[in-house]
Amino acid sequence: MKSSNIYASIKQWKQLGDTIQLWSFRCDSKLCFVLNVVRDADNGGCEGSVLLDDTATFRGEKNAIPNLSVGGFDVIDNIKTRLESVCPLTVSCTDILTLATREAVNFVGGPYWKVLLGRRDGRTASETEANNLPSPFEDIDDLVAKFVAKGLNVKDVVVLSGGHTIGYAQCITFQNRLFNFSGTGKPDPTLDSDLREDLQSRCPNEDGSNSNLAPLDPVTVYKFDNTYYKNLRNNMGLLQSDQTLLTNSSTADMVRIYGMFPSVFARDFGDSMVKMANIGVLTGQDGEIRRNCRVMN
Ligand code: HEM
Repeated sequence: MKSSNIYASIKQWKQLGDTIQLWSFRCDSKLCFVLNVVRDADNGGCEGSVLLDDTATFRGEKNAIPNLSVGGFDVIDNIKTRLESVCPLTVSCTDILTLATREAVNFVGGPYWKVLLGRRDGRTASETEANNLPSPFEDIDDLVAKFVAKGLNVKDVVVLSGGHTIGYAQCITFQNRLFNFSGTGKPDPTLDSDLREDLQSRCPNEDGSNSNLAPLDPVTVYKFDNTYYKNLRNNMGLLQSDQTLLTNSSTADMVRIYGMFPSVFARDFGDSMVKMANIGVLTGQDGEIRRNCRVMN
């Protein structure tokens, strides 16, 4: 199948709605993290485990709390079906996901980078490990430690967090900042007051509002640009894990640079995405090429 056909499939996907295309992007990032956490078991990496459905022997990562709002699996299924019909057992689900991620970012105005191909699909998944993703409540030291544990560095933390230039988060992931921050009985003082009022009305202090949504970049929510970094400097980061990038002098400096120079952000984002998508990949005789992305062969 020509890459232009994959591209056409993704275009159809775009017509299905903005939120779907964002999923792949997010999923890719989580996928790599998820799988590398299980490095000890030597079956971790970017190997498409997040795509697997539950089976009789394990509960898949789709059940994990950080992945509950993830959707769009049908898009990957459609691309896979078309590929299998013309070129069976050749392109892995993991490669499809990686390509779709790059296309999705590019569709919404982001950079384009060279994707290395040849990943194979894993033969396991772990909901427990998926729950071990970086948390939105973490501070800079904890975030850096989790990235470093996967072979990434401080710069990767800052530039990949720029992925939050698009998409939405559920109230439960930032509500702690709105009413009783760290047990003070007051909102997080590092949150812009106009944004805080808007968020308090979207996310009233009651359980029923947990799954309401707010944009991660309230200024240009559907555009992949460097506004995320400008927002941080205006105290308009949505998650605690976003705003924490300003609490360390070296990460704050990178935030300043990326906010000033969109082309530097675009270049570095592509580089870090390549790095992340190469974590713990399966090649050669390891893993398999799934026929159906939702189940192992
Ligand atoms: C630094 C560690 C990270 C943390 C703590 C984090 C946390 C989160 C959280 C809590 C959400 C909202 C989830 C929900 O409410 O369902 C989210 C959404 C999102 N994240 Fe991250 N994330 C991180 C890194 C990344 C990276 C590396 C990327 C991509 C390069 C990324 C891209 C996205 C996107 C695009 C969304 C929006 C998804 C949607 O609209 O459904 N995140 N993230």
